[in-house]
Amino acid sequence: MRDEPLVLGIETSCDETGVGIVRGHTLLADAVASSVEEHARFGGVVPEVASRAHLEAMVPTIERACTTAGVSLRDVDAVAVTSGPGLVGALLVGLASAKALAIGLDKPLYGVNHLSAHVAVDQLEHGPLPEPCLAMLVSGGHSSLLLVEDVTGTVEPLGATIDDAAGEAFDKVARLLGLPFPGGPHIDRAAASGSSVAIDFPRGLTSRRDLERHRFDYSFSGLKTAVARWVEARVAAGEPVPVADVAASFQEAVCDVLTRKAIDAAVDRGVEDLLIGGGVAANSRLRVMAEERAARHGIRVRVPRPGLCTDNGAMVAALGSELVARGRTPSELGIGADSSLPVTQVLA
Ligand code: KG4
Ligand code: ZN
Repeated sequence: MRDEPLVLGIETSCDETGVGIVRGHTLLADAVASSVEEHARFGGVVPEVASRAHLEAMVPTIERACTTAGVSLRDVDAVAVTSGPGLVGALLVGLASAKALAIGLDKPLYGVNHLSAHVAVDQLEHGPLPEPCLAMLVSGGHSSLLLVEDVTGTVEPLGATIDDAAGEAFDKVARLLGLPFPGGPHIDRAAASGSSVAIDFPRGLTSRRDLERHRFDYSFSGLKTAVARWVEARVAAGEPVPVADVAASFQEAVCDVLTRKAIDAAVDRGVEDLLIGGGVAANSRLRVMAEERAARHGIRVRVPRPGLCTDNGAMVAALGSELVARGRTPSELGIGADSSLPVTQVLA
């Protein structure tokens, strides 16, 4: 497949400096440098720390990606970069780097939407994306249900979180339980030895009244508060906190609402493929529950492997490659970082 375009993708919307290289749908390199450890003591990502880390990691990460792919920068046919949404200072580092490459190599630049890139990445693992498909993107920064008619053009937002993102809820509850940041994997592990029915935590926006206005929206802040109150009451009573049971019951509540609404949306729109992406897609319970519930409605579930679910450059390269393949017009070199780029805008 030598004749397919070689696309380099850069991702810097949060705390991962990602550089991916793809040829068509074939992944050649996915180099990621994460500053997550620098943020751990703050319990969340510190934007200025992330921007500085991107600056330091960018050139070595590009070099590492080229070495792994066995290509030279001169071979690159197009450069793709996340232009939003994300942390503006962090995005700027990626954009400036991508523009420099595009100008230096005299190749087209594609400034892309981070959320569409989370969807497009699945093509690298499972082949051409079924269109339409329903995408549930769940991470530390976003929780959205999207109807994807065309990953390079038509993405319709059906619902999103109205407060905390799903991953943010995992991180905050982990902190309450004394588990390290980022908390998702620790809750997942702790939950394995707990009971998911030990505590009946609330399911946000699922009452009949809420469903009238927020059928496909999520809310996790009430759940987080409920967990905090429950833990405080135990501590106040001088009783030990059953971490595994709290983790399992909390995780069950999150996964229950996430999968229930995603499948309701797929059935409502007559879509037969559900794609799950973002860091929370790595959650073991979410995967199992989604597959069980989807199967009852004849819906297929696609989840990229964990390394492709979390933020990375391969996802940006994958979307860039698809934009090239479908002949979309590249971005202007003057494009800026847009921290709140709407999901309907795939290309900046
Ligand atoms: O997509 P991602 O790497 O970065 C963005 O936030 O954009 O997602 C990171 C989030 C964190 O909140 C982390 O706690 C969560 O994904 N996460 C998980 C698991 N692995 C990562 N949440 C639940 N279960 C997991 N196994
Ligand atoms: Zn993301």
